[in-house]
Amino acid sequence: MPLPLKLHAASPISLQTQIFEQVRSMILEGRLRPGEALPSTRTLSEQFGIARNTTALAYDRLAAEGYIETRRSVGTFISMQIPEGVLYTATHRPASPARSTKRSAVKSSDPPARSQALVNPNRKRLVADFWVGRPDPDSFPRKIWAQLIHRRLLGSGSALTEYRDPSGLLELREAIAERVRPTRNIVTSADEIIIVGGCQDGLNLVSRMMLAAGSTAVVETPCYQGAAFLFENFGAKIVPVPVDERGLICGRLPDVRNAIAYVTPSHQYPLGVTLSLERRLELLAWAAETDSYILEDDYDSDFRFHGAPLAALKGLDLMGRVIYLGTFSKSLGAGLRLGYVIFPTELLERARHMKTLMNNGQPWLEQATLADFMESGGYERHVRRIRKLYYSRRNALLAALDKHFGGGEIIGAEAGMHLAWRLPHDLPPASEIEKLAIEAGVGVYTLATGAAVNFETSADSDRYLVLGFSSLTEREISKGIARLAEVLSVKASGQRRAAQALAR
Ligand SMILES: Cc1ncc(COP(=O)(O)O)c(C=O)c1O
Repeated sequence: MPLPLKLHAASPISLQTQIFEQVRSMILEGRLRPGEALPSTRTLSEQFGIARNTTALAYDRLAAEGYIETRRSVGTFISMQIPEGVLYTATHRPASPARSTKRSAVKSSDPPARSQALVNPNRKRLVADFWVGRPDPDSFPRKIWAQLIHRRLLGSGSALTEYRDPSGLLELREAIAERVRPTRNIVTSADEIIIVGGCQDGLNLVSRMMLAAGSTAVVETPCYQGAAFLFENFGAKIVPVPVDERGLICGRLPDVRNAIAYVTPSHQYPLGVTLSLERRLELLAWAAETDSYILEDDYDSDFRFHGAPLAALKGLDLMGRVIYLGTFSKSLGAGLRLGYVIFPTELLERARHMKTLMNNGQPWLEQATLADFMESGGYERHVRRIRKLYYSRRNALLAALDKHFGGGEIIGAEAGMHLAWRLPHDLPPASEIEKLAIEAGVGVYTLATGAAVNFETSADSDRYLVLGFSSLTEREISKGIARLAEVLSVKASGQRRAAQALAR
């Protein structure tokens, strides 16, 4: 059967993306059913008179995201893994904003708030610190940034002396809306975007809009401290839901109403796994059924090392259930304090008022400079360059782990700025290694340290080390892992000697 696609060669959106998006919509809307056959890439390219490579790449992307599957010498079919019950046709319901309840004032007897760790407190003594999520300090585009900021400053007129739209600079919001379509599969416009001071500020904005003492905040476990501790601070009831190799276990989502669920679907923090398509759909269906909202933190999605970037969960959300958080802390630097939130339409007015109440908007000069950097194409070139750099550093880390340990399992290395290493059986638990490593000047982290928090500790969860690689040179990475191996073999030989002495 020919596919009823409408392809436009003159569109700025590539033919590959058009095919991907249209086939995906047909699947999600139930117009193509699980198990149904698709035309071959050759037939499709002949139908539209386009290159075979274009259709093949679109199919590759659909397969990578779990929409279709190819059976050798048989053909290509819509994936049987997509549960029909959670497709939009089955669950389409209008959204309504979450209810909020009253919150009492803080008493002096209340326990102090917890906040996320931003750096390793021992870092001055470290030879190599595998702290997670730090950009390479030498890669910030200083020269071009200086030129752009200087030009904007001289032409600023009243921009630095007057209040501006608290939602953020229109040019920057437009540049973001344009970028998230091809890179994250999110169709949005400047109106739906609010510029914030990084993800953390976005989380605060959403928490102020949605949380009150006693509301439910679902988090992944393990989870990013900055989110979990913030929700805790709002008096929310934290419901941790465990993560396995396919991401959040949606079967364990609570039976509640008006909750928020904070997730990191592209590269789970800190485990690094990707949320499967089946579970993405389940999570969206849960949000619709329970009148809840999903907070998607897409903190490091710019760094996917092979193939097209995976689409964001927000790109699948036809029911207005996903609030998307993006940040420039990883692609440029955390010191800029710039990020953005993309809201579903029904939350926009509330979000704009809350942003005004919180801080009247972000600094104009940095927003204007970033908008110019994005519009000039400089940002995209910068991201491509550092992606390559991080790829080499990731490879150096994989090579060093293989050389010195040659065992265990690597998780989440296809993307991002860190990976998780499931330890080989002959190594001690991760928490013990972390302590030994620090003594030797190497910073490594577990699922419950660094900036992570683990709500369900078990012997198994102490078998993972979390290693960031983006801010270390290849030399530092090799030295750090060699030092770690040295420490662990010293410990192992000490244990052997003790065991031999006991046996005598
Ligand atoms: C998962 C995750 N989300 C958000 C952030 C914070 O980002 P921002 O600097 O934009 O507040 C981090 C920082 O490491 C992170 O790891």
